Amino acid sequence: LKKSNSKIISVKKYLDEKDIKDDPFILFHVWLNDAIKEKLPEPTAMTLATSSKEGKTFARIVLLKKFDKRGFIFYTNYDSDKAKQINSNPNAALVFYWKELERQVRVEGIVKKISSRESDEYFNSRPVLSRISSIISPQSQVVPGRFHLENLFNEYIKNKSESEIKRPKNWGGYCLIPNHIEFWQGRENRLHDRILFTKKKSSWLINRLAP
Ligand SMILES: Cc1cc2nc3c(=O)[nH]c(=O)nc-3n(C[C@H](O)[C@H](O)[C@H](O)COP(=O)(O)O)c2cc1C
Repeated sequence: LKKSNSKIISVKKYLDEKDIKDDPFILFHVWLNDAIKEKLPEPTAMTLATSSKEGKTFARIVLLKKFDKRGFIFYTNYDSDKAKQINSNPNAALVFYWKELERQVRVEGIVKKISSRESDEYFNSRPVLSRISSIISPQSQVVPGRFHLENLFNEYIKNKSESEIKRPKNWGGYCLIPNHIEFWQGRENRLHDRILFTKKKSSWLINRLAP
């Protein structure tokens, strides 16, 4: 562990209240950029936890595609299991883990669909074969076998020209609008730093939590 950490020299290894601005979005930007700059594998991968109406909870990885003043944006199939859970219970959580930096970020909030225009723009920016996979894949459904998906893919390619490959209505973006963001920085002797931001109307309350 020491060895892999020692390669990373440009990143702070502690979290001090005096370095923190009153907006967690600023710190998240810094940490995400650190993970990208250090060329960590899948720096935008985040675990997304959602729950059904009955309170049964599910988690999976999705990729953060945009982070702005609204929150955390990811793309998926609007008929998938996660989408069904979000439809019936918009409360959700995200976890980022950047092992090499000994950092974790936990986010809780409410998930909302983004506009179809923004989903169209992102969809059209994707490689054409990825677009086709998103169109033909009935995400989360049982399929008879891999051949079935490959047949759907090949049939689609045969019958469509590139200009016809448009975003289907059942695929698009969601934004998780945060009300809690916790930054965890690993420290020596397991006396780690944990700083929790809690949304209070338009400002954020900042608390240190015991590790
Ligand atoms: C590294 C990685 C990135 C992924 N990114 C996405 C993504 O951005 N969107 C997505 O819908 N699924 C993504 N997946 C697949 C999901 O983990 C999951 O299998 C899929 O969305 C179906 O989840 P559901 O049945 O709970 O809806 C990713 C998986 C991995 C391992």
